Amino acid sequence: MGNMVRLDRFLAEAGKGTRSEVKKYIRKGLVQVNGRTEKCPETKICISEDQVFLNGELTESAPEFEYFLLNKPAGYVSATEDTKDHTVMELIPSDRRGLFPVGRLDKDTEGLLLITDDGQLAHQLLSPAKHVDKTYYVVVDGRVTKEDAAALERGVDIGEEKPTLPAGTEILSLVPDPDQTESGFRSEIHLTIHEGKFHQVKRMMEAVGKKVMYLKRISMGSLTLPQDLPTGACRPLTEQEISSLKKQ
Ligand code: URA
Repeated sequence: MGNMVRLDRFLAEAGKGTRSEVKKYIRKGLVQVNGRTEKCPETKICISEDQVFLNGELTESAPEFEYFLLNKPAGYVSATEDTKDHTVMELIPSDRRGLFPVGRLDKDTEGLLLITDDGQLAHQLLSPAKHVDKTYYVVVDGRVTKEDAAALERGVDIGEEKPTLPAGTEILSLVPDPDQTESGFRSEIHLTIHEGKFHQVKRMMEAVGKKVMYLKRISMGSLTLPQDLPTGACRPLTEQEISSLKKQ
């Protein structure tokens, strides 16, 4: 037996209206299940076997899971609910229950965040054993030297039991910045890490004596932040992005 759901929920999730609108359609006799008019919204139907018609038209069931790629803005917390802050879920144009952010970005961090209700994929991407790569664009106060980069590449002590796993480091630029920083410089780097410890990038930079001024995630596994996706905007993942992520 396939997945059973209430008829009103099935229609609402398939985008046919709000829960109360679809209940009205059902009670008015506009809905048929396998050719028979069904007037009871609580009736359970089998998603994979039953055919549901609304106004004579076959209803395609909603996809099993939803996947959104969000370019997270600063000021939002990576949680489904929060009593005082805005959450990333407010930026997702879906009221599907069960959606959640895969992993966390700090409130002041921007960039790529996957939102889905596919628990198995989330588990796979977050599993410490999988070491899924995450690349960040980092702006730090001061000069990131070749020695700092070498230390980050070897692994640094951030107060955990073990040093961090070797990270990929690319120094992009060193910019004189007398106004904003104590040292008179800021550095831009790409840092690729394979773990997801709390505040990991900030703590790694601190371990080499630098303070993070701006942090943005630009990739996670095979998924990269599209250049044309504005901060605060999201879009559904493409089929290809979903299948590549599943192969990680
Ligand atoms: N590392 C951090 O310090 N913060 C983030 O949001 C992500 C990685």
